[in-house]
This record gives sequence, C-alpha cells and structure tokens, in this order.
Amino acid sequence: MQQLSVRHLLGIKNLTENDIQLILGTAREFKDVINRPIKKVPSLRDITIANVFFENSTRTRLSFELAEKRLSADVVNFSASGSSVKKGETLLDTVNNILAMKVDMIVMRHSSPGAPHYLSDRIPANVVNAGDGTHEHPTQALLDSFSIQDKLGNVAGKRVAIIGDILHSRVALSNIFCLQKQGAEVMVCGPTTLIPKHIDQLGVKVSHDVREALNWCDVANVLRIQLERQQIKYFPSLREYSLYYGITKKMLDELDRPIVLMHPGPINRGVELTSDAADSHHSIILDQVENGVAVRMAVLYLLAQM
Ligand code: CP
Repeated sequence: MQQLSVRHLLGIKNLTENDIQLILGTAREFKDVINRPIKKVPSLRDITIANVFFENSTRTRLSFELAEKRLSADVVNFSASGSSVKKGETLLDTVNNILAMKVDMIVMRHSSPGAPHYLSDRIPANVVNAGDGTHEHPTQALLDSFSIQDKLGNVAGKRVAIIGDILHSRVALSNIFCLQKQGAEVMVCGPTTLIPKHIDQLGVKVSHDVREALNWCDVANVLRIQLERQQIKYFPSLREYSLYYGITKKMLDELDRPIVLMHPGPINRGVELTSDAADSHHSIILDQVENGVAVRMAVLYLLAQM
C-alpha cells in the first residue's frame, strides 16, 4: 500500500505531489463509498478522533465529523467556548488531557498560525490542521483540487484565479501550494491592500482588476472578506468593495467561454458574489462541500496508517 510522506497534515507546503495525488485518488474511492446506500466502511474502527475547534466552523467541523463516522471511528467534539480554556488552561494541557482519554488523532482549528505545528512536535497523536489563523487550510485546498478534477478532468495546465481577501486567507495560501504542485497556473486578484506584499515571489500572477482575472482563468475561486481578522479598514466600505470586486452572474455569462465558480464558504451574499452568481450553473460551491467529506476520509484513513 502507498503511504504519505508525513505523519501529520499541517499544510500543503510540506506535502509532495505524490502525497497530493495519493489523497485525491483515495478520496475518489471514498466518494464512491459515500454515494452507496450503505455509506460506512470499517476502516477506522477502534480509532478515536477528537475534533478540537478553537474557532467557529460549519463546513469543516461537520465534514470531519461525518468523514470520521463514515470510517467507523469513535468521535469526540471539543469547542473552546464552554471549555476549561476559559479558565486559563493552555493549548498543550487541554490536548494532553484529551489524549489521556485514549484519543488517537487530533483535528484542530485554531486562530494562531502554527498552532498545529506546535502541537505536532509535542504529542504522540497524528495532528490534522483544520485551519490555523491566516496560515493554511490544507483540507480545503485538497477538496478544491478534487472538485476541479471532477469538473474539468485535470488540475494540471488549468488557470485558477483566487479573488478577494488574499491577505487574511488561509485558503489562498494552501490553494497556491496545492495548485502549483499539480502544475496549474495561479493568479491572485483583489485590492492592493488585501494582496500580501511580495506574493509574486510565490510564482503567482497578481491583478487588481476582477474582469482581467475572470477573462484569464478557467476557475475563479472567490474568497470572503474576513472582517473578523481586520483590525484596520482595508477599503472604504463593503458597498464599494462589492462595486469593484463583487462578481455577478452577468459578468460570468458575458465571458466567451465556460468558467467554473468556486467559494470555500461561508459566502457573504451581495459582497464578493451576488446570489444569482453563487446559485448559477457556473457554480460548484455545493459540490465542493460534498467532496470535502470524501477528501477528509482519505486524509484520516491515510494518516491512520502512519
Ligand atoms: N470553508 C470553511 O472552512 O468553512 P467553515 O469555516 O464553515 O469551516
């Protein structure tokens, strides 16, 4: 059996292209499984996984929990609100107490970049990064690539524009690494204030013109404005952002070729996307969510072998 080169999934940066293809190929098999009448396999029976979330989540948390249950793992869920973290317990103490209850794997979302890396150096369990601040969100990038494969047949050679709040986005960085490792071209697009300085050194094109980005790409991956991470004003108002960077169905329909519209969610309807664009035939947003379960099953299954 093929194995990953890593014991933990901390980010896409430290995966090889073989790792990515192994995860996507395994996810394809699990997608067949979860579309059967009996959606469960015994692969992770007797493995216990804790989903440890220090930040809000809908998709990632439910998707991991469903993936774990489809693999027959035992699952416990922890959220920082309502826990003893509020009484001053450290991250490491919290996780070591969870592990003392015979937990084998930790899936963690945390607001601090590097928090899963810190844990992985200090605990014996496998660690999966479910989003660390503005750093990486590896399973989102993997499910995005899986969804592009599903829709367009291949990621290699495709042009993907990531449009929106790149500065505060962990999805952007993981996608840049994931797409480039598979041979796709990447452009980032947004207002100057929301594009990190020197991002071109990662080998991406940079544009501040959303129409230029849409004309260039096969896939537009549109990101939310992360107001919760913005301590200062990066643009005058959401209305102005929407006027310059909001994507409408009309803009997509007017292109002279097909375009695939993606968004990791949650969507701010009327800001980065109009509702008619989000719900149009161009959009594969709910396919991304469906594919997330199969991709997370693959990640958990492969890490459990390490
Ligand atoms: N895409 C994503 O990470 O969504 P959630 O914040 O709801 O998990």
